[in-house]
Parts: sequence; C-alpha cells; structure tokens
Amino acid sequence: MAYTPLINLAKEEVKKGELPAYEGDIDLSKYDTVFIGGPVWWGTYPQVMFTFFKKHANDLKGKTVIPFTTHEGCGLANCAKDVKDAFPGANVQKGFSIYGHEVRTEKRKVEKWLNGLGY
Ligand SMILES: Cc1cc2nc3c(=O)[nH]c(=O)nc-3n(C[C@H](O)[C@H](O)[C@H](O)COP(=O)(O)O)c2cc1C
Repeated sequence: MAYTPLINLAKEEVKKGELPAYEGDIDLSKYDTVFIGGPVWWGTYPQVMFTFFKKHANDLKGKTVIPFTTHEGCGLANCAKDVKDAFPGANVQKGFSIYGHEVRTEKRKVEKWLNGLGY
C-alpha cells in the first residue's frame, strides 16, 4: 500500500478503535520472557497489535515483557504504557526504540540493548 493511504487508513483505525483481524497465532504459555515490538503508528502500536493484546490479555501474568519500537521521531511514545495496560500482572520492562531508517545500518545499537538486558 502507498504511504499516504496507509497513513489515513491507520488514522481511521485509531479513531474508530478498530481491532483488525490477523492471521496465525502463538502459544505464549511456553515463554517466560516475551518481546513485543512493531512500528509506532500515530503514537502507539498499529491497531492490529491491540487485537493480539486483547486476545492474549491474560496470557502474560507473572511474565517478563519487553516492549520495543521502530519510529521516526517519537521513540516509544505510548507503546510501553499501552502494553502495561493491556497485560495486567505482567512485569513490563523499560522499552527500547530505534529509528526505522537505522535498523539496517545501526545493528550495534540493537546489540547493545540486547546485551544490556543480561540474558
Ligand atoms: C500510519 C503510520 C503512522 C506513523 N506514526 C508515527 C508516529 O506517530 N511517530 C513516529 O515517530 N513515527 C511514525 N510513523 C513512522 C513509522 O514509525 C516508521 O516508518 C516505522 O517505524 C518504520 O518501520 P517499518 O519499515 O516496519 O514500517 C508512522 C508511520 C505510518 C505508516
């Protein structure tokens, strides 16, 4: 999809609180630590991720959750807060964000973050 129609579509989805369907799913019970990441769209994750959050709202209790984003200026914006709200009882860690245009050239920033997590 071209950029401008996508921007407008995404804005409509936020405005209407739409929860678009997605394909496939994951069994979260196998994991103690879950990374949740995506681009920032209009200040938070794309609405389709909220479909996932709603479906799995009770699946991350007592687990460690690490949010991350790509963005073009706003950093984590509301993403970490929205993840906290979406998963009551989860241990949501400080998140990480990186410019979308840096993801292919600044791998060391990602490595530094991951190494700093101590896993
Ligand atoms: C619909 C839409 C909304 C966006 N909203 C924001 C925003 O609120 N703040 C921001 O810093 N970047 C925003 N961006 C830029 C994206 O975060 C950036 O293009 C993306 O993280 C790059 O990852 P991608 O290549 O997987 O799309 C937006 C992009 C789109 C398409």
